[in-house]
Amino acid sequence: MANLARNNKILLELVQRPGNNLCADCSAPEPDWASYTLGVFVCLNCSGMHRNLPTVSKVKSIRLDYWDSSLVEFMQKRGNSEAKAIFEKCVPTFFYKPRQNDCIVLKDQWIRAKYERREFTGENNKFLQIYTSEQFESPLWKKGRVNKQFLKRNFLLSQRDFTLKYFIKEDSKVPKAVISMKDLNADFQPEKIGHPHGLQISYSEDDHTRNLFVYHDDGTIIASTVLFKNQCQTILNCIPWLYKRCFSTQLVPQLTSKSLKEGYMEKTGPTTRESFKKRWFTLNLTNRKLLYLKSPLEATEKGFAFIGSESHGYSVSACSGQSKRGGRWRWGIFLKTPDREYVFMCEQESEQKEWIEAFRKIISQPMTPEDYASTLLLCQITFYHFVHVQAFTSHSFFFHR
Ligand SMILES: *[C@@H]1O[C@H](CO)[C@@H](O)[C@H](O)[C@H]1NC(C)=O
Ligand SMILES: *[C@@H]1O[C@H](CO)[C@@H](O)[C@H](O)[C@H]1NC(C)=O
Ligand SMILES: [Zn+2]
Repeated sequence: MANLARNNKILLELVQRPGNNLCADCSAPEPDWASYTLGVFVCLNCSGMHRNLPTVSKVKSIRLDYWDSSLVEFMQKRGNSEAKAIFEKCVPTFFYKPRQNDCIVLKDQWIRAKYERREFTGENNKFLQIYTSEQFESPLWKKGRVNKQFLKRNFLLSQRDFTLKYFIKEDSKVPKAVISMKDLNADFQPEKIGHPHGLQISYSEDDHTRNLFVYHDDGTIIASTVLFKNQCQTILNCIPWLYKRCFSTQLVPQLTSKSLKEGYMEKTGPTTRESFKKRWFTLNLTNRKLLYLKSPLEATEKGFAFIGSESHGYSVSACSGQSKRGGRWRWGIFLKTPDREYVFMCEQESEQKEWIEAFRKIISQPMTPEDYASTLLLCQITFYHFVHVQAFTSHSFFFHR
């Protein structure tokens, strides 16, 4: 027992040192696990992924497990900085290393690439070619807009013109779509898509958010797709800074963004006569937009609302009671904007709470000059809808004037 206490104490001191004080794989602070075969300190989350690679890594808790003196000596000798010099020796300059909050597939593939495939030790050039080439090409299974089936499409990410293209056939010369990487977002959505490597790719086109839903059975392919995209976007974001210091961490952009909140709610049209309909909503903190779609896997939204700040007359509160007009859910949210009052209904109280919290987060945040610019744009779009669309259809639109 004396040894247990003594050795754990040594490890707890060791983990405080610079280099060891951040997880070797995702940079999370205060790691309290370690791989005693690789000699690295990692966070609980990454330790789980190490456990899946028993031939290269064996992990223990530095607080709770018994540590032999010889293992502690190895940890003293190796440590995160030394391991980095070995396993991350040849990481390409613009390679995006996953962080704590990145998706599990990305972190898992990073850990496998580093320790299992030893892609960055300099022994093996095969993998480096992917990251140092100017393009990345692979088939992915993409959900059809109309027939809703996943079909094999050829995807091509190009670092030369910073685009994502996809082709219907392997030998097609003309792409079905050419998408700029400037605002391209790729977010792992395994549950929504129903595949462990499901990826939602979003971008904006003609003031609409467009979604592509893709997957590949091989996790390496899907992770490489995202890593290559991130790498291109890092370069793209760095170009104006190339003469300054491009590699400082502040300049690494937020490459994958998550919605602040997503889920089903019931909504009604702008007048009091329409009935409630169940819709999928997604709320974006960055552009302050609440989008609504018919279902989670729609290619484009049906409509959206801009969520301004408190000082501009936006507010949110809970309201209760079952609505009469066709709604089945009873946990209500009352959203007030200068133009319109919305009522949304949630199925559960917890959902209602989470939505209100998410709306409050945006409403309490002051608007930036870009937000003002986009409000102006929204007014024009609203006007456009009114004149050109609403006049010809009987659909109810989210906005009215
Ligand atoms: C690890 O992190 C991922 C993504 O951040 C999360 O989904 C998962 O639940 C975490 N697992 C553990 C054991 O903390
Ligand atoms: C949120 O909006 C920003 C700005 O338009 C965009 O770059 C980002 O990808 C969006 N996030 C999601 C999850 O769609
Ligand atoms: Zn970690």
